Amino acid sequence: MKVLLIGSGGREHALAWKIAQSPLLDEFYAAPGNPGIADHATLVALNVEDHAAVIAFAKEKAIDFVVVGPEAPLVAGLADDLRAAGIATFGPSKAAAQLEGSKGFTKDLCARYDIPTGAYQRFKAAEPARDYVRAQGAPIVIKADGLAAGKGVTVAMTEAEALAAIDECFDGAFGTAGAEVVVEAFLDGEEASFFCLSDGKTALALATAQDHKRVGDGDTGPNTGGMGAYSPAPVMTPAMVERTMKEIIEPTIAGMAKDGNPFSGVFFAGLMITAKGPELIEYNVRFGDPECQVLMMRLKSDLLPILYATATGTLDKVEAEWRDDAALTVVLASKGYPGAYDKNTPIAHIPEASEKAKVFHAGTALKDGELVATGGRVLNVTAFGKTVTEAQARAYALADKVEWENGFCRRDIGWQAVVREKA
Ligand code: AMP
Ligand code: GLY
Repeated sequence: MKVLLIGSGGREHALAWKIAQSPLLDEFYAAPGNPGIADHATLVALNVEDHAAVIAFAKEKAIDFVVVGPEAPLVAGLADDLRAAGIATFGPSKAAAQLEGSKGFTKDLCARYDIPTGAYQRFKAAEPARDYVRAQGAPIVIKADGLAAGKGVTVAMTEAEALAAIDECFDGAFGTAGAEVVVEAFLDGEEASFFCLSDGKTALALATAQDHKRVGDGDTGPNTGGMGAYSPAPVMTPAMVERTMKEIIEPTIAGMAKDGNPFSGVFFAGLMITAKGPELIEYNVRFGDPECQVLMMRLKSDLLPILYATATGTLDKVEAEWRDDAALTVVLASKGYPGAYDKNTPIAHIPEASEKAKVFHAGTALKDGELVATGGRVLNVTAFGKTVTEAQARAYALADKVEWENGFCRRDIGWQAVVREKA
């Protein structure tokens, strides 16, 4: 099979690493890719926003299958355009990608199909949103409707904070993403992420993970795209996974199909496990970054036929086998992230992968033959172990061998699971 992978992050490096191990793979390209992905695939300098250019390249190389990593091209309809050109593609249509692209869309779907989630209202103007907040009281959650790079959500512990967040959205802090606002009930519980494939009809549960969104140790400081993750999530017991499938995923697949937007791709469900059970916080329509890195470490099966079956409506014919081991990833980021940081700082050394640990590249580039850090989140040191504690020790041992002066990481990724394992 000739495969083209779209994206350039740590998530895509992990996907590339796994796809490259497939005996079904003949030729492998990535656009635009990164220096880590270059170990597995030929990098192509395509502008991914130019769908005609992506299709022209795919035709020229007789690509059989395109895997889209990030959400932006999906929300922009790249998968639709590729499929219209006759190319099998992993990733949802533009219409189905609204599950991530519009929080209001997802909340309305939940309301229509009785999917458990926090009570909510949608607003197009500040004044009625403010009235609603005053009537409901705090704690309460304010969300910009559209894609805001993970920054459009305020969990307001006071009414004043909530009112300020509403003004921020309508004052344009998130551009058009904030032109509509969802105000949502605060859900109390433990968060977990659940990953599940769907070809529009059938579901194939993958695995669970927990991440660390805050930049600082002890889950302090501002939110980030994720400073680390581990899998599985202890709170997601087999019973809780079963309830999530029945109460959340299956009604979503059926509802999306019924509404004329069948969903094909991966559901990344952000869940709150409350006293009532699993409730949906949000959907993403692509693998998590860095959650994908730990999932790929744990996946025993060949990834390529699983993704291809998802794209071609044959998901009922495949299975996914997982290691019993835990996996954990530590994000090395540029000092200053998620605020301003220096670019093009040199990375002097990346240690070799072992059988049980590997460094994935995210925001790196080669400049005059030297490896440099170009992004906020730059490397993902990923390891597995019999326990999260063992995976954590292995990941930090490898992270400490990375030589990059401008980098930093949290030292406590996986702490909740480590505490549980000690108990
Ligand atoms: P989201 O971008 O929707 O994942 O929201 C970012 C984070 O805000 C989530 O990971 C939760 O920690 C928190 N959050 C979002 N919605 C709620 C809610 N209804 N109740 C409590 N916390 C929430
Ligand atoms: N790590 C969170 C995300 O990929 O959205």
